Amino acid sequence: MHGDIVLSNIIATQKIHEKYGGVVPELASRAHQSNIAPVVGQAMHEAGIARQDLEAIAFTQGPGLMGSLLVGASFAKSMSLALNIPLIAVHHMQAHVLAHFISSSEKKTMPSFPLLCLTVSGGHTQIVLVKSPSDMKVIGETIDDAAGEAFDKAAKVLGLKYPGGPLIDKNAQDGEPEKYHFTAPRLSGLQYSFSGLKTSLLYFLRAEIAKDKSFIERELNNICASYQRTLVDYLLLNFSRAAEQYDVKDLCLAGGVSANSELRRKFLLMSEKQGRNAFIPPFEYCTDNAAMIGITGYFKYLESDFADLSSIPKPAWKIG
Ligand code: KG4
Ligand code: ZN
Repeated sequence: MHGDIVLSNIIATQKIHEKYGGVVPELASRAHQSNIAPVVGQAMHEAGIARQDLEAIAFTQGPGLMGSLLVGASFAKSMSLALNIPLIAVHHMQAHVLAHFISSSEKKTMPSFPLLCLTVSGGHTQIVLVKSPSDMKVIGETIDDAAGEAFDKAAKVLGLKYPGGPLIDKNAQDGEPEKYHFTAPRLSGLQYSFSGLKTSLLYFLRAEIAKDKSFIERELNNICASYQRTLVDYLLLNFSRAAEQYDVKDLCLAGGVSANSELRRKFLLMSEKQGRNAFIPPFEYCTDNAAMIGITGYFKYLESDFADLSSIPKPAWKIG
């Protein structure tokens, strides 16, 4: 990053997890270990900067898998020590939200504070009231699975590869969203629960397959479209209630699931209906990326909010 401008954003995708249908923690940390030096090298090369030009180094302190976090933290600490530059510890979910503030070459308006963000990823589902880059409060979240998990687990049952969210999205394009009905639980307040949804899909498929072995193959697009519609409507039900309740003008989507085309479409419609401004991140800043850590590092740099070498990963770190 140079200020809020991205100079390079390199992503190393870990293909190894496909084979197991989910992330295997030990394999993830080993892949991080072998990727981190080449990825940082490539990022600096593409950005056209030398090590001596770096003014600070940001790393993800949590939440996440301990092994993977340790690799990043150790690497960042060594750079901070060797180059004598400040170390900045970043919260992964805060970074998803702040991805909205990355400067862009297209002329676009940025959201203003306070804003309300629906952050939906593989590990989290949160409605966040954001008063400033450093003042975030979770006002609603899932009590069990995350929205991304609900996509990925359903995809697994349907025989699609990991991560299945994008594949459900793709198959749903040619399906009928109203063909099948799955029920999402209504909890009190702004809480979510996703574990029942994937179970209701599983029972539905078992019953249908008992009648017709090729049911999934024949109906894949319609199942994907119907399941996706249920998930998206459920996500937006609580979020639209939160927007009314807190009466916030600017609404944002963030996290890997915000790449979902149905969620993006309905989020825009919902915001328009309520007369609020909608902000959707560009695709490259939806799923996990380095730029979102960079922009959060930049905000913390402005505040001189630095970490010291004794800081350790926080796998279950909560916002606020
Ligand atoms: O934020 P992210 O990249 O990683 C975490 O922090 O977890 O989110 C990954 C999640 C996965 O569950 C993936 O299936 C989901 O985002 N995802 C999608 C789409 N693209 C990514 N889910 C639905 N539709 C998509 N187009
Ligand atoms: Zn993420």
